[in-house]
Amino acid sequence: MARTIQRWAAVLALGACLITWQAAPASAAPPLKDITSRYVGSAVPATALANEADYRTTLTREFDSVTPENEMKWASLEPNRGQYNWSAADSIVNYARQNGKSVRGHTLVWHNQYPGWLNNLSAGELRAAVQQHITTVMTRYQGKIRAWDVVNEVFNEDGTLRDSIFRQKLGDGYIADAFRWAKQADPGAKLYINDYNVEWQGAKSNAMYELVKSLRQQGVPVEGAGFQTHLSTQYGFPGGFQANLQRFADLGVDVAITEADVRIQLPADAAKLSKQADYFDQAWDACQAVGRCVEFTTWGFTDRHSWVPGTFPGEGAACLFDESLKPKPAYTRINP
Ligand code: G3I
Repeated sequence: MARTIQRWAAVLALGACLITWQAAPASAAPPLKDITSRYVGSAVPATALANEADYRTTLTREFDSVTPENEMKWASLEPNRGQYNWSAADSIVNYARQNGKSVRGHTLVWHNQYPGWLNNLSAGELRAAVQQHITTVMTRYQGKIRAWDVVNEVFNEDGTLRDSIFRQKLGDGYIADAFRWAKQADPGAKLYINDYNVEWQGAKSNAMYELVKSLRQQGVPVEGAGFQTHLSTQYGFPGGFQANLQRFADLGVDVAITEADVRIQLPADAAKLSKQADYFDQAWDACQAVGRCVEFTTWGFTDRHSWVPGTFPGEGAACLFDESLKPKPAYTRINP
């Protein structure tokens, strides 16, 4: 009898263990998207989303906003004049809609990744093409995109306007025109100016600040300022980041961290990963501390897919998750 009771007790104990084990979440921390009222996003390549189930699972669990990494750029959408390739961009928007995610549109007017045929247009033709591009793309996704990077990287480091094909042929007014056309195409989307190396207060961010101020004084619908936040542990963390976000917010616009990553000189080690964690955490906290900071988006969430090694040889490991999707110290620092 005693032995039978012992056996049943053992069976019950094992059952309780199994139930506890099954009920335990994969990670003790809640998903990033659940620990803040801000959107938490990532840049997403359509190919990874389509082909990698583990990538998709982590994205879906942790984030509530997506930014197509390349798929909405002009060269991707309209490589030949009048011939549109919507499928990759559509696939990301459809994923977002099916999974309750918000979308950041990136980007309408940029000096990079525009189609070669623009180079052959006269000023008048280019102006019409920019208006048509903005109207066509924003109308297609009307109501499905929360925020658009209408103009991207319009400044040089010294704060002068970049001499892009758009400025050369259309003059400085192309920026205001782009925002006005965008407003007409999708009045519900928040319209952003977006740039890098504007996280600290300096010539470039001062110029962006003055442009936003002046455009708004003229009634141009600039509604957000995006801070890309591509950082590197070999430089100091941008001083006064929070105060800088706040001064833009005080102009009456939303602010967003749109492309955060923190690259490391390879090979990564514990000290570098800890420094990276510190930078991510400071950027996260700066956004949390500013009422109008509405979004914290990273430029990719896994070291498996990151633009960094291709652009900065010898650097990498810039994301919150490693190549096998294991959270790195930076993730744990933000979300202990
Ligand atoms: O699609 C072609 C492929 O067909 C070809 O075989 C391959 C060979 O090089 O190139 C592929 O295109 C690459 C494309 O990414 C898609 O992977 C381009 O070469 C490459 O230059 C391009 O890089 C992108 C970069 O913007 C271009 O400037 C990065 O993926 C993308 O992460 C990066 O994103 C930018 C933001 O839009 C704006 N802010 C900075 C950020 C990082 O540079």
